[in-house]
Amino acid sequence: MKRLNKLYIGTNTKMFKTIADSDKYLKELSILSNDLQKEDIQIFVIPSYTSLVSAKKVASKNIMIGAQNMAWEQEGQYTGEISPKMLSELNIDMVMIGHSERRNIFLEYDEMEALKVEAAIKNGFNTLLCVGESKKDKDYQISDERLRIQIKKGLYKLSKKNTDKLYIAYEPVWAIGVNGTPAEPKYIEEKHKAIKSCLAELFGQNFGLDIPVLYGGSVNNNNCKEIIKLNNVDGLFIGRSAWNANNFNKIIRDVLPIFKERKI
Ligand code: PGA
Repeated sequence: MKRLNKLYIGTNTKMFKTIADSDKYLKELSILSNDLQKEDIQIFVIPSYTSLVSAKKVASKNIMIGAQNMAWEQEGQYTGEISPKMLSELNIDMVMIGHSERRNIFLEYDEMEALKVEAAIKNGFNTLLCVGESKKDKDYQISDERLRIQIKKGLYKLSKKNTDKLYIAYEPVWAIGVNGTPAEPKYIEEKHKAIKSCLAELFGQNFGLDIPVLYGGSVNNNNCKEIIKLNNVDGLFIGRSAWNANNFNKIIRDVLPIFKERKI
């Protein structure tokens, strides 16, 4: 399948890092990543809501800053929610939709993610839709079906003209976090292929295969090189292993040359 030239690599810091922690982290990462070329790589960091204002100020222009979630309405009776209008005021670059913790702990469902994706795109945000099958889906051998449902429902409101700011993160639920089991490269490649064919089916080869598909779930210093070698992996979405700026930089330096040399 079509190969994208640019490496996308980012982290979601979940409910970790205070404003001071995020600032320190972003200052360090900005210095460490200063020499990287924007034609080669796009780094993004998705910190806590409370860190966003300051994060946007301290991060270098090369690092996109994103929100971990977003409501679909501009305003209204939605206690505890943050709207696209509110996030636009902060000049942030990106919004993440449907992280597995939003789906599984906070019970968000595909129809909700579709409304959020539509609102994020309409409001001009780079939009990262996360998808991934559960351990049960995997055991029942319905992983591809689950991924196709999440993608087809989650992107239901989009036409191919709206896909240039869309990114997909494939994160098998069973591979995420401290209790996660890292997925095998062969399995990752298979699922990325399934995701890409679904995107091509939805938006046509030209548009569908231009959408970057990132892999996430227990990516670390030991497995990052194997994963980035895979033809259908366009980037990495990392949790724990990227929360120290030096370690994130190490991973970036390990994978970027491999990504650039990758052959179809
Ligand atoms: P992890 O988190 O790398 O710590 O497994 C990934 C994620 O939740 O996106």
